[in-house]
Amino acid sequence: MKAIVPTGGRGTRMQPITFSNNTHFIPVANQPLIYYPLETIAEAGITEVAITYNPGWLEIVKQHIGDGSRWGLKVSYILQEKPLGLANIFQVCQDWLAGESFLLHLGDNIFADGIKDQVDYFLDQKPDAMVTMVEHPENTRLGVPYFDKKGRLVKYVEKPKNPPHKFAIPGLYFFQKVVFSCFTGEDKIRPSARGELEINAPFQWLINHGYRVDVKEYKGKWLDPGKFDDWLTANQYLLDHNLKEVKYPKLDQSVVIEGRVKVGKRCKIKNSHIRGPVSIGDNVVLENAYVGPYTSIDDNCRIENASLENSVVMKDVEIYNVDKPIDASLIGSQTTIYSQPHAHKTSFFVGEKSRVIL
Ligand code: G1P
Repeated sequence: MKAIVPTGGRGTRMQPITFSNNTHFIPVANQPLIYYPLETIAEAGITEVAITYNPGWLEIVKQHIGDGSRWGLKVSYILQEKPLGLANIFQVCQDWLAGESFLLHLGDNIFADGIKDQVDYFLDQKPDAMVTMVEHPENTRLGVPYFDKKGRLVKYVEKPKNPPHKFAIPGLYFFQKVVFSCFTGEDKIRPSARGELEINAPFQWLINHGYRVDVKEYKGKWLDPGKFDDWLTANQYLLDHNLKEVKYPKLDQSVVIEGRVKVGKRCKIKNSHIRGPVSIGDNVVLENAYVGPYTSIDDNCRIENASLENSVVMKDVEIYNVDKPIDASLIGSQTTIYSQPHAHKTSFFVGEKSRVIL
């Protein structure tokens, strides 16, 4: 069995961060989002993975993922020329799949308790296709399964206005090669109103043609950090659950550490208080700083005379001389935030779609 992980998409819900970055590489708990699916795919025993990318992104995608050997994966890169939808993603991988069964794992979904049970069920039961199902209160913005009286999946609707229950279909889908029949012939699947081959279309095609499409509920924690609030929630959850080990080099006596805190290499920390769960990358300078729970600070940041909590700080950020605590923030790479002593004005140099809350 093979796996496909897409890195395309417009990332509109995460603008402005995605003007300069691809959603899949924004850090969650100090590692790029896409590392989580790659980890769980490897843990489930799959070794061959295709990463699909949009034009212009290959070099950046490769820089982050490489040949996949750090997860024990063999990674291939496949171009998706146009953003023609999720079903088009496995369509462009058809030659690479060479008739094998496969899963499609969206690169911005995290199944925090692994996907081995889903994979094993599919390999064991061999349905023609399978969707994963989760209970989720906000399923009007997700794919939703509809069942008949006998509990069989009869319909799969994208983002319905009035779903009949609280279940949703997250981004983990399984197929046998028969799915490729949906792209040919008179009744082949067609693009939706927004011009895309939606992910529900091949499933609906299989159901309508009498193929067996199973639904397997996922009881673990599913995280969908597609928008700002959900990003912070995912950061909180993963810091809380993955930061088991307290790991930091010997620190200055003026530093107070409480709870689970991870500090990277070559950090200079003085006169500061860190309250976990917190993850700090390499080469970070903290001085007269308070870093509170659920904060991740990426490499090469400098935080002086400032306090922050429940926030994601990306690489190369400088924050200094800020008197009010910073909370619930996502700060993009190379940003500088500071206040000038005695200044009576506030000055901004912020890009499109930024949000400044004073
Ligand atoms: C996509 C799918 C949707 C699924 C969701 C999970 O939606 O179309 O069925 O529930 O991913 O993240 P999108 O995030 O592209 O709106």
